[in-house]
Amino acid sequence: MRVLVLTGAGVSAESGIPTFRGKDGYWRNLDPARLATPEAFEKNPKLVWEWYRERRQRIRNAQPNAAHEAIANLAQHAHEFLLITQNVDDLHARAGLPKEKMVQIHGDIFLTRCSRCDFGFTERKHEHEHEHEQEQEEEEENVVPRCAKRDALMRPGVVWFGEQLPWNEVQRVEGYLGGGVCDLVIVAGTTATFGYIIDWAMRAAAPNGELIEVNPEETPLSQFATRLVREPAAIALPRLVDQLVAQPPEL
Ligand code: OAD
Repeated sequence: MRVLVLTGAGVSAESGIPTFRGKDGYWRNLDPARLATPEAFEKNPKLVWEWYRERRQRIRNAQPNAAHEAIANLAQHAHEFLLITQNVDDLHARAGLPKEKMVQIHGDIFLTRCSRCDFGFTERKHEHEHEHEQEQEEEEENVVPRCAKRDALMRPGVVWFGEQLPWNEVQRVEGYLGGGVCDLVIVAGTTATFGYIIDWAMRAAAPNGELIEVNPEETPLSQFATRLVREPAAIALPRLVDQLVAQPPEL
């Protein structure tokens, strides 16, 4: 089986990480223009950092759920596998999915990088890693980090509205899509707001691959899916993956 999985915030919802556009989603209560654009960062870097530090802490305290585990399990059984996730959390990795089988197309929230040069480092991700770093981060809560090489502010390593997707990661996606059509494409927990998500899903599945959407709600992708699973990901994906592993789709 050659498999592509695309995920969004809905997959981490059952780990307690808020989605963006859902009922209690971030964008219902907060204005993206004040928090997730280069202009917002230029205007109020402290506010932007506060929000990202809060989110980092919430993710550190969270655990991968059955959906993350099912995807890692599917990756082990597929001959070829790629996950494209829009999630900046590390829950897919913590569920055991190897880095080389995953593209974080909107970046990594634990990465801190310079806003002007390519200097960057990864923050402590888990509770058990170097406790002193947590103390340090708490102490520096009100401080906007500065680049050690350039006279510039450090920023979270995520993609903001109005920014380009990371070139290397897009190349990895294109490389995988160019390697052949997929027997199976699963799109889980995303409103598929961005055209490239729909485009990648459809290109990967065309002309005869199965395209399964796992989402309690309808999305712009639903009309193109060959199968709709209107259930939460942590319920649907373990069952779906068990079925697929027992009986892969026919070529
Ligand atoms: P959204 O918040 O737009 O959508 C979450 C989707 O998950 C919705 O379609 C829900 O119906 C679905 N959902 C909710 N709970 C679910 C569950 N338990 N199981 C399965 N599905 C569930 O999040 P994304 O589509 O990931 O980008 O948003 C895409 C991008 O927009 C994000 O990466 C972020 C955001 O602004 C940037 O910040 C660049």
